[in-house]
Amino acid sequence: MRRRLRLRRDASLTLLLGTALGLLLYAQRDGEAPTTSAPQARGRAAPRPTLGPRTFQVPEAGAAPPAYEGDTPPPPTPTGPFDFGSYLRAKDQRRFPLLINQPHKCRGDGGPGGRPDLLIAVKSVAADFERRQAVRQTWGAEGRVQGALVRRVFLVGVPRGEGTEGTDTVGAGTRTHWRDLLHAESRAYSDILLWAFDDTFFNLTLKEIHFLAWASAFCPDVRFVFKGDADVFVHVGNLLEFLALRDPGQDLLAGDVIVQARPIRARASKYYIPEGVYGLPAYPAYAGGGGFVVSGATLRRLVGACAQVELFPIDDVFLGMCLQRLRLTPEPHPAFRTFGISQPSAAPHLRTFDPCFYRELVVVHGLSAADIWLMWRLLHGPNGPACAHPQPVAAGPFQWDS
Ligand SMILES: *[C@@H]1O[C@H](CO)[C@@H](O)[C@H](O)[C@H]1NC(C)=O
Repeated sequence: MRRRLRLRRDASLTLLLGTALGLLLYAQRDGEAPTTSAPQARGRAAPRPTLGPRTFQVPEAGAAPPAYEGDTPPPPTPTGPFDFGSYLRAKDQRRFPLLINQPHKCRGDGGPGGRPDLLIAVKSVAADFERRQAVRQTWGAEGRVQGALVRRVFLVGVPRGEGTEGTDTVGAGTRTHWRDLLHAESRAYSDILLWAFDDTFFNLTLKEIHFLAWASAFCPDVRFVFKGDADVFVHVGNLLEFLALRDPGQDLLAGDVIVQARPIRARASKYYIPEGVYGLPAYPAYAGGGGFVVSGATLRRLVGACAQVELFPIDDVFLGMCLQRLRLTPEPHPAFRTFGISQPSAAPHLRTFDPCFYRELVVVHGLSAADIWLMWRLLHGPNGPACAHPQPVAAGPFQWDS
């Protein structure tokens, strides 16, 4: 979840109501909840939502698809209101087969290396081939970067309504052969992880727990993991510099941290959460799902912690709940800009494209495949960007006119 309401803790009720009205209008205009900047602060430990112990098994390596193939997927309802009733009924089903695995990703069998220093895990959807290609050729490239061994996987689910061959609702003319495509990509690049759940916004939490289980089973010795969206630009060099000072055996989860975010109670919002689903006034501190980095130690602990937390339909908030269970606080990092950078109205496109600006950041969100590729070229060209006044990474909320 990228753009979400972030409110100042000390906002007056008047401001709240005024902002809410404005946001509602804004959300209705473009169908997304916008963000407001919040001061970086430590999250207050709020009481946990009621959690029953759950068992969560690691998806089996190379599990065969038939269990899923036999199912009839529900009809696609991409624009309908979110059905919390069926979500609550279905959320105990939290283990789906792995349809495409990369069991050797972190073993380096036959190749150099072995344990990766950094595993890059990118949330993707089957149709988004262009962005995967851009990421493969740019910041997600595998191999040695500044001496660190980098590996990459894409996290993919089944396109809704296309789970069973022959029930393609899109029509023969626009049929995408997504399954053939993913298998071919897997053979060519060994970087596809495909699970047998519907790849929807509200199933990103399933993607989260399946990835955590996969990483602890197939990449148990990884030092650090970066997890993010396919529309971000990551300055891997800056990220590795930051990680060089950190111990992978210690707890770490760093990113664009949101504290005291309030559940959105406006039914019209994409992020609407009824009180029956989450009754507390604020979410625990969490890192925006656009991109964050986690140490191997924390990753392994999260698997167990998340298994005890009820599924929650917003993936990054869910991970915040898992962290809270471990009594960990995510670490705000000013160079992770997963919110509010690329609002077209607020940012002339050229300004967004200043490589000197990107040079100082770790993660920037909201880029097309072409933007990702171009920024990479600008930053990694023969001479690098010619920046007149190198600036250190700025702290505090980003402002365009500063
Ligand atoms: C999540 O995936 C499951 C399995 O494919 C599906 O039954 C369910 O409707 C999906 N949930 C949402 C909220 O999209």
